[in-house]
Amino acid sequence: MKILFLNGPNLNLLGTRQPEIYGRDTLATIEAAVQVRAKALGVTVEFRQTNHEGQLVEWIHEARGAFQVIALNAAAYTHTSIALRDAISAVGLPVIELHLSNIHAREPFRHVSMIAPVCRGQISGFGAFSYILALEAAVNVHQPA
Ligand code: DQA
Repeated sequence: MKILFLNGPNLNLLGTRQPEIYGRDTLATIEAAVQVRAKALGVTVEFRQTNHEGQLVEWIHEARGAFQVIALNAAAYTHTSIALRDAISAVGLPVIELHLSNIHAREPFRHVSMIAPVCRGQISGFGAFSYILALEAAVNVHQPA
């Protein structure tokens, strides 16, 4: 089983970006922890990050046939992108929405997720551990316990 982790804008700055909100882990250390857990679960994980909305759309398209589940931290595009929502609907793959911070406990504009209605579920507020939870959810979505 292959799971694609997609990361949107500014997540390349994790570690130094507002650590009081996002923690001090970098995306690389988060990926390393996910890879360790993925190995234990016997699944394959690929991690990607981009600051560009269209690139996320293209990666979602390309995932069809190559991955079974997508774990998506769309970052700020979560709150704005109809294009991402349409891409998720178009490919029909299960998508786990994930966030480091609890978007519902932050500014009102972050309470709205354009992608939530077309995702299988949302994980939000557990810091770097949100990625491990998303991995567990992805595996369970594919092979329910
Ligand atoms: C985020 C939350 C978003 O509101 C924000 O724009 C991000 C990161 C998170 O992981 O907590 O860039 O997706």
